[in-house]
Amino acid sequence: MFAIYPGSFDPITLGHLDVIERGSRLFERVIVAVLRNPNKAPLFTIAERMEQIRRSTGHLTNVEVDSFDGLTVTYAKMRQANVLLRGLRVLSDFEMELQMAHTNKTLSEEVETVFLATSNEHSFLSSSLVKEIAKLGGRIDHLVPQPVAPDIYKCYAKILPISSLKQDSTPLLEPPKTEFLPGKVDEPE
Ligand code: PNS
Repeated sequence: MFAIYPGSFDPITLGHLDVIERGSRLFERVIVAVLRNPNKAPLFTIAERMEQIRRSTGHLTNVEVDSFDGLTVTYAKMRQANVLLRGLRVLSDFEMELQMAHTNKTLSEEVETVFLATSNEHSFLSSSLVKEIAKLGGRIDHLVPQPVAPDIYKCYAKILPISSLKQDSTPLLEPPKTEFLPGKVDEPE
């Protein structure tokens, strides 16, 4: 059985990776599908996000990374997947997720939504939180997959030079010397 794990992934967090890893043990194939959403101004481009997810899931042989636009159920049917995988963190997620699952069910009878309870240690985590911390000069290495942290530091170092930080603030790491350069530095979500 194939599962689609749709989302914005701007950027992928350890919470997302946890869902992908556990999903990959449950399903024959998990397709991580990045939504191309023209209404949002993301921090990372689609290509950058896909590359970040690929680098974070390289150890999982049955995980594929793709992008899509339009309805998720249409994409799922096109990929012959009958499961939409979503993570549930806290009660506040439930209302929106249930609404999405019900909506998707009205659009396609064949596509089922399967929820995985996010591991406790990641229940507070979101892409927005990661971006806020990084923007304010905090460390995010413990919140995102190891290959992704340098991209985020590099992105915000462009907006917030290290020299501009107050002495008592948590120091921002020197951006590591990688070739990967995120394209946009605008306001997240
Ligand atoms: O990571 P996110 O932003 O919570 O993911 C939300 C996502 C991409 C799963 C949802 O917005 C979505 O499925 N969008 C595609 C449009 C669609 O199918 N809408 C109808 C179902 S609500």
